[in-house]
Amino acid sequence: FQPKDLAGRKVLITAGPTFEPWDAVRGLTNRSSGKMGWALARAAWERGAEVQLVAGPTALDEPYGVRWVGVETARQMREAVQAALPGVDVFIAAAAVADWRPAAAQPGKLKKQSGEPPPVLYLDTNPDILAEVAARADAPYCVGFAAETDNLAANAQAKRLRKGVPMLIGNIGPQAFGRDDNACVLIDANGMTELPRMDKLALARRILHEIAARLPNDQS
Ligand code: C5P
Repeated sequence: FQPKDLAGRKVLITAGPTFEPWDAVRGLTNRSSGKMGWALARAAWERGAEVQLVAGPTALDEPYGVRWVGVETARQMREAVQAALPGVDVFIAAAAVADWRPAAAQPGKLKKQSGEPPPVLYLDTNPDILAEVAARADAPYCVGFAAETDNLAANAQAKRLRKGVPMLIGNIGPQAFGRDDNACVLIDANGMTELPRMDKLALARRILHEIAARLPNDQS
């Protein structure tokens, strides 16, 4: 049983990786199963929220009880987020967005020429969706995720301030990928709370509990 403390609230969640095409068959992507974003969507729905999930390509089934839109690239994800943003109370960025994309995507398939040197891949920087949303004058309560490989607490705190978000969830990078459980630290302006290893739905419920407790009461 979960309290319905998010009834009447709108929660927008990004999940999964993005895929940035290079040619018709190749591209750049990040490792993300989408499981944490799915769990967050479910946990927000359980608490009575109206949930909109914007997801990059994953192997997961359509989530139950929430509105869902599938995207491929970071720029499509940003567009879908901006379209969904009006009236949103909480934005949770759980997607592993590719930081760069091939500067020029080829329509066909690049052919391998024997004896030729390998092609050079030029990259452009993708928009930082979370930082953009957090910087808006009408920003919802924003929650970021950070996968760090070392110095979790310090790096995650620095990222929270850099992104300008009130809450950041840090986890130790590759250990979390594709698994059904995870361990995190939750960081906000009041400090740090360790969330011990538990399955992703339990963790998501805990995170939504912490978010609900921090929302302003006034819903006007
Ligand atoms: O900078 P870094 O990628 O480590 O930040 C991770 C956080 O920022 C996650 O919450 C992720 O969803 C979000 N992010 C984003 N757009 C990007 C890169 C990261 O929304 N281009």
